[in-house]
Amino acid sequence: MIETHGLSVRLGPRAVLQDIAFHARPGALTAIVGPNGSGKTTLLRALSGDLPFTGSVRLNGLPLGTTPVWELARHRAVLAQHTPVGFPFTVLEVVRLGLSASARPELTAEEALARVGLAGHAGRLFPELSGGEQQRCHLARVLAQLGHPTGPSGPRWLFLDEPVSALDIGHQLMVMGLARRFADSGGGVVAVMHDLNLTAQFAGSVALLADGRLTRQGSPEEVLADEPLSAAYQCRLRLNRAPVQGRWFLPQMAGGHEPAGLTS
Ligand SMILES: Nc1ncnc2c1ncn2[C@@H]1O[C@H](COP(=O)(O)OP(=O)(O)OP(=O)(O)O)[C@@H](O)[C@H]1O
Ligand SMILES: [Mg+2]
Repeated sequence: MIETHGLSVRLGPRAVLQDIAFHARPGALTAIVGPNGSGKTTLLRALSGDLPFTGSVRLNGLPLGTTPVWELARHRAVLAQHTPVGFPFTVLEVVRLGLSASARPELTAEEALARVGLAGHAGRLFPELSGGEQQRCHLARVLAQLGHPTGPSGPRWLFLDEPVSALDIGHQLMVMGLARRFADSGGGVVAVMHDLNLTAQFAGSVALLADGRLTRQGSPEEVLADEPLSAAYQCRLRLNRAPVQGRWFLPQMAGGHEPAGLTS
């Protein structure tokens, strides 16, 4: 379980997160959504123990802030929004960085690469991969670090910041399916998402941020609704159902980016 109470983060002079009460349970994919600059990455970094904060954050019962990073590394692994690689490492070497952060590796680098569709790419130079291949290579590194979804000290947590931002539709489904299976097997997944349709399809819980505050958290039905989305994103959004599968989708409305609260 992850629980925060009164979580606030200041970066320089700015109050970036204010009084956040967020929760995530293992066995489900929890999505964090919200507009650019609303604080999603900052929240994920605070949950990861990477940022100073006020308030409380507990991960598997451990209080963040006083738990050493080596101990946290057994419980969670983080796919950052941007991860520069400063050296001409091979793909295999990048994934092995994840293994070196793991107390007792449970996956081989080759297995992790196969899971993200990069089997056979181990010897290639990382800078020569395409953008989407680089993103999946980093995901393989994170999977290699974490190993199985659960371990002796409880559920393990995958923190994913926009894990499908560089991916084509087939690989988006592959990566979201992989994240869901990790959760279905007892692990925890917290994923920052911009794609609300994929969020509706894969998330069990959705947290909506706007302007540094958690405006709503609940089931996709509760959060992915016209009014809270239109208010958060400051544009008019209408929920629809896809004719074939009955799944939700959010088409763009004519007129583009307009202030919320307009009558139709
Ligand atoms: N180191 C920093 N110093 C000052 N302000 C910062 C710092 N890092 C982030 N911010 C500000 O905090 C706010 C939230 O940033 P954050 O990266 O969490 O947004 P986000 O919701 O992840 O946005 P995006 O969808 O664009 O990735 C932004 O206004 C950003 O400018
Ligand atoms: Mg971000």
